[in-house]
Amino acid sequence: MSRSISLDETLTNYVRKANRAESPALERCRIETDAREDKMMQISPEQGAFMKLIARMVNARTAVEVGVFTGYSALATAETMKEMHGTKARLFACDVSYDFIGMAEDYWKEGGVADIIQPVIGDARHSLIGLLNDGLGESVDLMFVDADKTGYPDYYTAGLSLLRPGGIMLFDNVLWSGSVADPQKCDEDTEALRAIADKLREDDRVEIAFTAIGDGVLMAMKR
Ligand SMILES: C[S@@+](CC[C@H](N)C(=O)[O-])C[C@H]1O[C@@H](n2cnc3c(N)ncnc32)[C@H](O)[C@@H]1O
Repeated sequence: MSRSISLDETLTNYVRKANRAESPALERCRIETDAREDKMMQISPEQGAFMKLIARMVNARTAVEVGVFTGYSALATAETMKEMHGTKARLFACDVSYDFIGMAEDYWKEGGVADIIQPVIGDARHSLIGLLNDGLGESVDLMFVDADKTGYPDYYTAGLSLLRPGGIMLFDNVLWSGSVADPQKCDEDTEALRAIADKLREDDRVEIAFTAIGDGVLMAMKR
């Protein structure tokens, strides 16, 4: 039986070169974010490439992101959505932080996708309910969840109502740097991530794949 391997720096660089080059806006977002202390919050470029392909596979025209930070994952997704659907595409980008959204908007403008990204500022628990109240139920093709881990159950509940059948929800960081498999780790973030994995495994409303991409990406497709 084979298993996912961990990547050293040489192999990580190989993977990066094997993917297509990022757009100039994505590259600037990655490099400038890399100079920040909180840089670990940003997804990797290879995860960005993965998300672009998922967006294409589900023909994403309407998407929701929960957890924007400096905007890399939203930019990657939105580039593909705009290529496919032009200005008919719409990505709702939810984050609590005005500052992060402000930074992200700069990259989105450079990438030519600011016109299809609608920032939604506030606690995403409320923002997602707001999107449902605005009539988005059963219309979302792709949702990426990458915010506070204790919010994942609420994001899942709202996300299932937002997704169309066949739509995909991605939960980031489900490996939590390995903590989820360490019985000594019982903090609330780790417990929340274990709980969402357990819940989705038993939920026959979705098909799932728990993958070891990056820090772990749990994929759920609504039946
Ligand atoms: C891991 S970062 C997101 C990284 C981003 N997807 C990227 O590609 O760079 C998590 C983000 O979630 C946001 N966040 C935390 N709690 C939140 C909440 N309750 N509602 C909305 N956003 C939240 C933080 O402000 C932060 O920007």
